[in-house]
Amino acid sequence: MSWLRPQTRGWYLDCTVGLGGTAERVLQCSGPDSRLIGIDHDPLAIALAHTRLHTYQPRVRLMCENFRHVKTVMHTANLKRVDGILFDLGVSSAQLEQPERGFSFQQDGPLDMRLNPTCGQPAATLVNTLPESQLATIIHTLGEERYARRIARAIVHARRPAPLRTTMALSRVVQHAVPRSYRYGRLHPATRTFQAFRLAVNHELDSLTIALHDVVDFLAPGGRLCVIAFHSLEDRVVKHTFRHIAQRAPDHWTILTKKPVVPAREERMANPRARSAKLRVMERMAGTRDSRHAPGPWSPPPSFLRTQESRRAIALRGLVPGACFDQGGHA
Ligand SMILES: C[S@@+](CC[C@H](N)C(=O)[O-])C[C@H]1O[C@@H](n2cnc3c(N)ncnc32)[C@H](O)[C@@H]1O
Repeated sequence: MSWLRPQTRGWYLDCTVGLGGTAERVLQCSGPDSRLIGIDHDPLAIALAHTRLHTYQPRVRLMCENFRHVKTVMHTANLKRVDGILFDLGVSSAQLEQPERGFSFQQDGPLDMRLNPTCGQPAATLVNTLPESQLATIIHTLGEERYARRIARAIVHARRPAPLRTTMALSRVVQHAVPRSYRYGRLHPATRTFQAFRLAVNHELDSLTIALHDVVDFLAPGGRLCVIAFHSLEDRVVKHTFRHIAQRAPDHWTILTKKPVVPAREERMANPRARSAKLRVMERMAGTRDSRHAPGPWSPPPSFLRTQESRRAIALRGLVPGACFDQGGHA
């Protein structure tokens, strides 16, 4: 919260409202006259956040929306500026713990992994229909999995008699595909493969890049953008995008975190999920003109096109069937 610096009478945008915990802290820290717009692509998350935050009405507005449509969100809310923006990326504990969502290799459930179960294709479609080379590309690029080829080969072999339909089925295939020594390492052997399919199914890196570029145009002078990433691919997208935004208009932006802020030891002990969290913060300098300084749709600059993440995102765009990015409902 100290990085976001919530102000009395401030307006805040939580782009990943989840269960509403962070949003609630913002509302508490910023006093009774502040307001918050919370968005999440998961309709269930919006319903849970609604229950948690209903005592703060009318200060809160929740919308079921992919953050890549942040421009639409701001337009719908009839807002031009906010004083702080938050992204707490990834999936929530509630999503991980519901087997029917298919995010977890620890519990059996359908191979789904969609943040919004009404949008796009479930992971089972990719797992059971993509050719081996494309599976290997996804697992390698989005999972940074060194045994991607072996895993892709094993998936294609395993799905021959009947499609792989459950998380446990995929997890078993991965475990048998990797060397014995890898099976008993610090990470569960299916961790990286599951991450890869989740990122692919939801086009997560793509959405993040678009959202970060678009959202900064809505930050008021003195306002801060805080992004928490949970794995290195996400964090690299945040780092490169911040750098690009700051280079584009050096008089307007300061990156406050030269290195990402990581949780203190006590926090890591209390909350093991926070172990891999990395926070990056940038501030729109006070006194800069309160107008959009980069109007028009965002198109990737040459420097962005040179980054590994962008090449990954662009290469994968052709492989993965389009997620549905239409507009969700508003709560
Ligand atoms: C780590 S949780 C956020 C937890 C939240 N800060 C809280 O206090 O409960 C991440 C949330 O981001 C949402 N999310 C991930 N990608 C999204 C996207 N592209 N658009 C909107 N929401 C997204 C997920 O559905 C999930 O609810």
